Amino acid sequence: MRNTVVTMQQQKNSLNKITMLTAYDYSTARLMDESGIEAILVGDSLGMVMLGYPDTLSVTMEDMIHHSKAVARGVQRAMIITDLPFMSYQVSVQEALSNAGHLIKEGRAHAVKLEGGEEVCAQIKAITQAAIPVMGHLGLTPQSVNAFGGFKVQGRDEAAARKIIQSALAVEKAGAFAVVLECVPATLASLISQLLVIPTIGIGAGAGCDGQVLVYQDMLGMYDGVAPKFAKQFVNIGERMKGGFQQYIQETKEQAFPAIEHTFHIDDAVIEKLQR
Ligand code: KIV
Ligand code: NA
Repeated sequence: MRNTVVTMQQQKNSLNKITMLTAYDYSTARLMDESGIEAILVGDSLGMVMLGYPDTLSVTMEDMIHHSKAVARGVQRAMIITDLPFMSYQVSVQEALSNAGHLIKEGRAHAVKLEGGEEVCAQIKAITQAAIPVMGHLGLTPQSVNAFGGFKVQGRDEAAARKIIQSALAVEKAGAFAVVLECVPATLASLISQLLVIPTIGIGAGAGCDGQVLVYQDMLGMYDGVAPKFAKQFVNIGERMKGGFQQYIQETKEQAFPAIEHTFHIDDAVIEKLQR
């Protein structure tokens, strides 16, 4: 059975933590789906971890659609949420609605995510009214990196904390089905999770959220950028990959690879005829 906005809300109501990871391609998404992950985020973090940019600002609608479709082909049970990239929803409600539509129609996502509070509520409302579920994103919203002056924890003083609470309530009222809280103090995220009816999905926001999300390259040790404090490395796949690559190089140089069992055969008689 497919996970949906309905099952996600039921998970919050029954205190069953929601598990979400990012994915950007068919093979990884399939492995996650088979592992039982409940939601997959095709995040615009793909600009950093897949494309090598220093931030998410250069990511295009074409990039998002390209990766979203690949993920969709690998997934049977997880709900797929795809990010609206920078400047695909800020300019106008019409553009936001049209771009959300592209992520659903071409990208085969089940929902879209966008960053911001009151300033994007008109967009959330319009997209939701078109029967496209919207996930909000508050706290450290990476598309605002230049306005924030870097990737920093948000909501640490009373005014900033109050602003995030108000934004969360506004986003819920506008129709969002869930909201990501990124890099906010744990006790503030817990408070917001209690105040909201809809689920909160935390990243660097403590255990009081209704679910968690991580960028998979962070949790598998595959990204060489500065790992944020919240990014627990569950397995060091990066080191295992390097080990595999190094072994391939060594065996090829030593002519231990390819061996007979990796090789195709024809009769020696045929080769003898060819040599004459
Ligand atoms: O793009 C992304 O990966 C995200 C998560 C960090 C929530 O938005
Ligand atoms: Na994102």
